[in-house]
Amino acid sequence: MLFVCLCAILQHHAAYVSNLNTSLQKRDDALSREDLAAVIELDHAIKFNGGGHVNHSIFWTNLAPVKHGGGDFEGNASQSVVNAIKSKWQSVEKFQETFNAKTAAVQGSGWGWLVYDPADKQLKIQTTSNQDPVGSLGVVPLLGIDVWEHAYYLKYENRRPEYLKEIWKVVNWKNVAERYTAALKK
Ligand SMILES: [Fe+2]
Repeated sequence: MLFVCLCAILQHHAAYVSNLNTSLQKRDDALSREDLAAVIELDHAIKFNGGGHVNHSIFWTNLAPVKHGGGDFEGNASQSVVNAIKSKWQSVEKFQETFNAKTAAVQGSGWGWLVYDPADKQLKIQTTSNQDPVGSLGVVPLLGIDVWEHAYYLKYENRRPEYLKEIWKVVNWKNVAERYTAALKK
C-alpha cells in the first residue's frame, strides 16, 4: 500500500513518505524472496518513516493560525475536553506547564503527547522517542508536539523550552476536541 503525502511542501514530511513507500516496496520484494532477515531490517525503516508520516499528519491538524482560532482553549475546545483537562490538571495553564516539563525533558529527538487511554478512560501526557507512533502504546493521540530540533531550531535555536511555551498560541483546540470526542467512542 502506498501513502500519499498531503504536505508535499514540507520537505521533511515528504521524505518520510517517500522512504516509507520505498521500504514497503522493498519489504514486499524481500517477502516474495522469503528473505526474512531483509524483512526484519526493513520493518525498522517502516516503523521510523511510517511513524514520521503518522506523527506529522497529526501535528499539522493540531495547529492553526491565531486568526483561525489557534491558541483559543476556552473558545475553541468543546466543553467536554475543557472539563476533562481541568478535572485532571486543575487548569489549562497547569496542564501546559506539566506537558512542557515532560516534553522538554525528552532526550534527543521525539514527541510530547496528550493522549486518551481507553484502558482507564484517562487523559495522560506521554512522550515518545524518535518517530515512534504513540498509538502503538495502546493510547489515542489527541495532541502531538514535535520536539525534533528541525521543528524549532530555525526560530528558537537550542531553546526548546521557549518553543514549547510559544507553541500553545497556535494549538488548534477544535481539532484536539474532535479527536477527544472520537476517542471516547473507542
Ligand atoms: Fe518534525
